[in-house]
Amino acid sequence: MSPRDDEARAILKANDRGGYTVPTAGLYPYQWNWDSVFAAIGFATHDMDRAWTEIETLLAGQWPNGMVPHILFHRVDPGYFPGPDIWRGVGPVPSSGISQPPIAATFVRWLLAMDPSHGDRARRLIPKLIDWHRWFMTWRNAGGAIFVTHPWETGRDNCPDWDAPLAAIEPAGINAYDRRDTTHVQAGERPRRWDYDRYLHLVKLGADCGWDDAHLQQVAPFRVADPTMTFTLLRATRDLRALAAGFGQPTSRLDRWIDEITRGAEQLWNAGAGTYDCVDLRTGTHTGVVTNASFLSWYAGIGGDRMLPQFDRIAGLTRHAVPSTDPAHPAYEPKRYWRGPVWAMMNMLIARGLSESGHPNRAEALRINTRDMIAENGFAEYFDPRDGAPAGGRNFTWTAAIWLAWASDSARRAEWAA
Ligand code: GLC
Repeated sequence: MSPRDDEARAILKANDRGGYTVPTAGLYPYQWNWDSVFAAIGFATHDMDRAWTEIETLLAGQWPNGMVPHILFHRVDPGYFPGPDIWRGVGPVPSSGISQPPIAATFVRWLLAMDPSHGDRARRLIPKLIDWHRWFMTWRNAGGAIFVTHPWETGRDNCPDWDAPLAAIEPAGINAYDRRDTTHVQAGERPRRWDYDRYLHLVKLGADCGWDDAHLQQVAPFRVADPTMTFTLLRATRDLRALAAGFGQPTSRLDRWIDEITRGAEQLWNAGAGTYDCVDLRTGTHTGVVTNASFLSWYAGIGGDRMLPQFDRIAGLTRHAVPSTDPAHPAYEPKRYWRGPVWAMMNMLIARGLSESGHPNRAEALRINTRDMIAENGFAEYFDPRDGAPAGGRNFTWTAAIWLAWASDSARRAEWAA
């Protein structure tokens, strides 16, 4: 047992708002989609009932069209902007109007592998997860590559992949606004004003039409196919298929989706740059950035060892892997959010893929590297890859959860080998 184990559990407890956890008090005072799913695997190490509740609360916010929002505003908090009045979500719980990486089905499968006695709860979630995946396959599907209409949907809010697609947008019609994020965290660790104007322009576009998917399909000025979405949906659909099959349910539709995304993911392979990256669908161009999302190909079970040379090159460039942007790329900024820092939960997904794809030594090295980074620097939102210096929010739910479930030497990793 490491003293960090107790600290991590205390962070999950302190961020628990009753049925859901906030990523961290102050900076993110609501329920975030993929944060909650990571929280669940952290709870699962010591409170399985609470783990299931986290995912159930998230899916209770599902919209009638199947979309599961990226933020649920359970209780209004003026410390966060943009809040429910700006987003004007149309679901059962006040919410944002976009989704986030669909990792939930995968984690439901892992929870069940850790403790099969909660089968009923898993079974009840399956139709909701299928509806959510159907929403992606209907409204975010470019020939099997999954795209987003807002950078925040990928969870990688300000990575350099968005620079060119956002530059083509002239933000208009947004009222004067006060950012709250920079009252909690140094401005140098957060996105710039230029990005924020465009983020808000895209939110307004969706809110003004009541998040009408058919309308947005015609007018959305931002359409970027992305590895985070494509790879997590592919993986999650396979896990959903395994869950459904385990309960004797039909799988043919899931099989079709798996096939379609597997073929579509090939569009994200940038042969010239030797990496998976984003594709701006408006221009058909690859963004040409190697990011930590590029390395989710193993987690998705595709590409064989295509990404191995990039992985080994980047792993040698900084003390802590995996930087969110290639340190050799001109846009790399080691302290600014998704433009360089290391994110522990991405490392867990990458390592999981590596160990499943015949690279257990690299997976274990990445775990140890992440363990040491957290042990030395605490439960920050993200870390400077050069020295592990903590950045962004502190006492962060997903870093604590990842510690408990994977990075700590006492983690029960073997038990979720689904
Ligand atoms: C930021 C991150 C996103 C995360 C959210 C809450 O917006 O980019 O991935 O879900 O914070 O932690």
